[in-house]
Amino acid sequence: MTVPDAMLAIEITQPGAPDVLAPVSVPVPVPKHGQILIKVAYAGVNRPDALQRAGAYNPPANASPLPGLECSGHVAAIGPGVTRWAVGDAVCALLPGGGYAEYAMTAADHALPIPEGMDLRQAACLPETCFTVWSNIVMRGGLKAGERFLVHGGSSGIGTTAIQIAAALGARVFATAGSDKKCATCTDLGAEKAFNYHDQDFVAEMKAVGGADLILDMVGGSYIPRNIRSLADDGRLVQIAFLTRPKVELNFAELMMRRLTITGSTLRPQSDLAKARIAAQIEEHVWPMIARGALKPVIDSEYPLAEAPAAHWRIEAQGHIGKIVLKVAD
Ligand SMILES: NC(=O)c1ccc[n+]([C@@H]2O[C@H](COP(=O)([O-])OP(=O)(O)OC[C@H]3O[C@@H](n4cnc5c(N)ncnc54)[C@H](OP(=O)(O)O)[C@@H]3O)[C@@H](O)[C@H]2O)c1
Repeated sequence: MTVPDAMLAIEITQPGAPDVLAPVSVPVPVPKHGQILIKVAYAGVNRPDALQRAGAYNPPANASPLPGLECSGHVAAIGPGVTRWAVGDAVCALLPGGGYAEYAMTAADHALPIPEGMDLRQAACLPETCFTVWSNIVMRGGLKAGERFLVHGGSSGIGTTAIQIAAALGARVFATAGSDKKCATCTDLGAEKAFNYHDQDFVAEMKAVGGADLILDMVGGSYIPRNIRSLADDGRLVQIAFLTRPKVELNFAELMMRRLTITGSTLRPQSDLAKARIAAQIEEHVWPMIARGALKPVIDSEYPLAEAPAAHWRIEAQGHIGKIVLKVAD
């Protein structure tokens, strides 16, 4: 495979609305020790990309300033010390940034083979949500078969993945979403019940079934005390974002009296080693779920790379269900 010196990418020209995304020609990165260069076929679009574009989520030091946290494609070059992959291998990968481009670089052990039965378009939608969901609901939250699991934002990229993985683990799954159509998607994917938060109280609904053993929350704000009230004794709350706000007043007595746990994490700033450990668990546990048909990405829409602003307008409007993907090459 011949790798050119320069490539087309989408850059964030300044913090702002989706129209600040613009095409640019930049040098193709050269893989260092332990890294691979991927010729990108498709790149997934995630809400953290929109936050980065708006200036609210800066990339970690040493990460590409270009947006894009996941992609699929073919290995175009390998750095010294890489033994698992060869040029031409089809992969999907978690990226430190730089997915909105013709070529993207990542650590070799943050890449995974394309799951059995899946095409490159579907595979591009897996890494960011699978890494986030698995590391938070299983490695951090300890979800087990038979437990009651509640996920907020059930129709989001994260939510649609969390519902399917939790159901595949044998948990009883509950979700919240902002419309009846989005709630129907949640139940189609395996949720026992989905609550439209405009006219249903998830606290009362969860208490009626005995409380949640685990909650995955991206909303924060007023949901934090309501999540505490929704938890069963010994329940766990895992916070992965604050779509509203991070600060609230909370009575910690309930935590103590009912032995609750509050934790949370963000994926991007974690070490390469931590991400490699998550990747290994995903390949062992989540890829077989995909092979047996228990998990597949819900794809809302596809845009050509050059139309990245339109993809971001779509995610900002919040009418989407599941994932938005950019087509970079065939
Ligand atoms: N911690 C991590 O490592 C990590 C990694 C990836 C993503 N995330 C976070 O996880 C969240 C989901 O990411 P994504 O890419 O899947 O996003 P997404 O597809 O854009 O979904 C976000 C959804 O949240 C719902 N929502 C928005 N505001 C809300 C509010 N005030 N109350 C209740 N629901 C609200 C919306 O659906 P409704 O119509 O139902 O309101 C929206 O579709 C984002 O906040 C993202 O930043 C965290």
